[in-house]
Parts: sequence; structure tokens; C-alpha cells
Amino acid sequence: MKISDLRIDYILKSLDEKEVTASPIDQFKIWFEEALKAKVLEVNAMTLSTVRQDGLPNSRIVLLKGVDEGFIFFTNYSSTKGKELNDHPYAALTFFWPELERQVRLIGKVSKISPEESDEYFFSRPYSSQVGAWASPQSQPIPNRQFLEDNEKKLREKFDQQSMKRPDNWGGYRLLASEVEFWQGRASRLHDRVLYTQVLEGSWKIQRLAP
Ligand SMILES: Cc1cc2nc3c(=O)[nH]c(=O)nc-3n(C[C@H](O)[C@H](O)[C@H](O)COP(=O)(O)O)c2cc1C
Repeated sequence: MKISDLRIDYILKSLDEKEVTASPIDQFKIWFEEALKAKVLEVNAMTLSTVRQDGLPNSRIVLLKGVDEGFIFFTNYSSTKGKELNDHPYAALTFFWPELERQVRLIGKVSKISPEESDEYFFSRPYSSQVGAWASPQSQPIPNRQFLEDNEKKLREKFDQQSMKRPDNWGGYRLLASEVEFWQGRASRLHDRVLYTQVLEGSWKIQRLAP
């Protein structure tokens, strides 16, 4: 099988710029609910793209953990992505929901959520994940796997469930989108694309883009 021969024709659904909601957040919620119903695997997994200091892009998957006026995810603030967001607080998020032949792309400004919001999520996680957040100096070179396991053991001795704290360098970010694109795969590569661009706070221009 040649990679170049892999091909799927998209036939499931359509998207009309006259039928979407006025706000991309509402449209995202509708699509997210549909993705949940369609049992999309890892439906809240999204590619987070940041900009490195040398101008090169950098992408990795993180999990969406909430949607309010923005899109919330959690990570280690001292990680590579944390440093990149500190230097350049803009990012892109991309969802791919193959079961529905859909993609959603967002671009926006990123800021840390409040310590209280980070605490709320941190303490809702299982104890083992809380220990894991402490045990991993995310994105740093480490000598071997044993280093992590030794760290974990020490941290389980240091903190029990009652005395657990959130690491200062672990918490959430919120991306406030200024552009959001919804992509629906269609037959013959004539896909539907609807782009929202923020014109004023709370007000959006809606355009259809060529696929
Ligand atoms: C399905 C999946 C979900 C992930 N979720 C997160 C997440 O929510 N937060 C996080 O920091 N890393 C998450 N990761 C790991 C990141 O992709 C990445 O390896 C890590 O954050 C280090 O990235 P960085 O060195 O660019 O900072 C996830 C990876 C996968 C494959």
C-alpha cells in the first residue's frame, strides 16, 4: 500500500455559513456535543501550536478541559510550551474529529487562568495524577525512567491525599479565540469551510472559504 494511494471521500454531513450560530463558541459547543454523541475517540484532544523564540512553530496534543469565554487546558508552566507561551502569548488549537469528518481550528491570545481555577481542577484529579504533576519536570532531559519512578515514590511519601498541594508551576491556560474555522469534509474535495473573525469583542464576521 502506497501512502499516496490512501484516500477517503467525505460524505457524512454539510455546513452552511447561513446556518451557523452568531458566536463560534456556541457553534463549537454544538459540534462538541455531536462529537461526544458520535463517540469520537479522545474528543477533547487538540493540537496546541505555539511559536518558539527562533520563530519556528511547535505543536503537541493537549486536552481541552473546559470552555467558557475561552478554551482551557492544563500543563506545566515551566515546560517548553509554557516558556513559549510566556515569550509569545498566542497559540493555535486544532481539533480533528474523523468520525464526523470535521476539523476545528482556533487562533487566539493565551493567558494563565487564576490560581483558584487551577486549584479547582488540580484537586479534582486523581491522587496519582496529582503526584505525577509533581514528579515530572516536564520537557527537561532526565537520566532514565527510574528517575521518574524514584521521584514518584518520594512524592507519595512527602504528600498524602490530605497534605497534597498544587505545584506553583502547574496550572491552566485560557485561549481567547479571535479566529475560529469549522471544516466539514464533503465529496470530491469540495469541503465546507466557515471562518469566524472577531471584529469587536463579542461580534464576529462569518465567511465561507474555498476548500
Ligand atoms: C492524547 C494526549 C493528551 C495529552 N494531554 C496533555 C495535557 O493536557 N497537558 C500536557 O501538558 N501535556 C499533554 N500531553 C503531552 C503533550 O503532548 C506533550 O508531550 C507535553 O505537554 C510536553 O510538551 P512540550 O515539551 O512542548 O511542553 C498529551 C499527549 C497526548 C498524546
